[in-house]
Amino acid sequence: MIRVGQGFDVHAFAPGRTLKLCGVIIPYELGLLGHSDADVATHALMDALLGAAALGDIGKLFPDTDQKYEGADSTTLLKEVVALLHENNYKIVNFDITIIAQEPKISPYVGSMRAIMASCCGLSLDRVSVKATTTERLGFTGRKEGIAALACALIEKI
Ligand code: CDP
Ligand code: ZN
Repeated sequence: MIRVGQGFDVHAFAPGRTLKLCGVIIPYELGLLGHSDADVATHALMDALLGAAALGDIGKLFPDTDQKYEGADSTTLLKEVVALLHENNYKIVNFDITIIAQEPKISPYVGSMRAIMASCCGLSLDRVSVKATTTERLGFTGRKEGIAALACALIEKI
């Protein structure tokens, strides 16, 4: 059984925060606001994986009312999601993440992002895609108020 899932997330920019996307720290004047490390791209991926397995979403698994997840490293949470999928006899076929940001430039970091995401999920690099786009200065991402991320994932019941 092959199953598809999608994920979407948004976090607002805020001063004095570290910008982390797909586990990579990116030098920029602003970071993203959130209860965890606000890694919006990893959040979208987790929701895509959970959606594919119909196992809920990250809000259900890691409630932001729980102190335990304050400042949490999203790559650690991703490994938990992958373990949950494995417990439910799913393996990941591939996934594709799109980061929607006017700034900063993401392409120099895509190689490291793919390597980290692949490692967290126990996948070869060719199964992992990370890309970026602007919204041509339109909307909240275009005004540099925050970053959005989309993901889609394919999983297979084993
Ligand atoms: O419409 P299209 O996505 O082709 O153009 P764009 O939004 O101006 O993005 C051009 C290229 O810049 C894309 O191919 C991305 O790889 C890259 N990009 C990036 O590295 N970082 C961003 N924050 C946005 C886009
Ligand atoms: Zn999030």
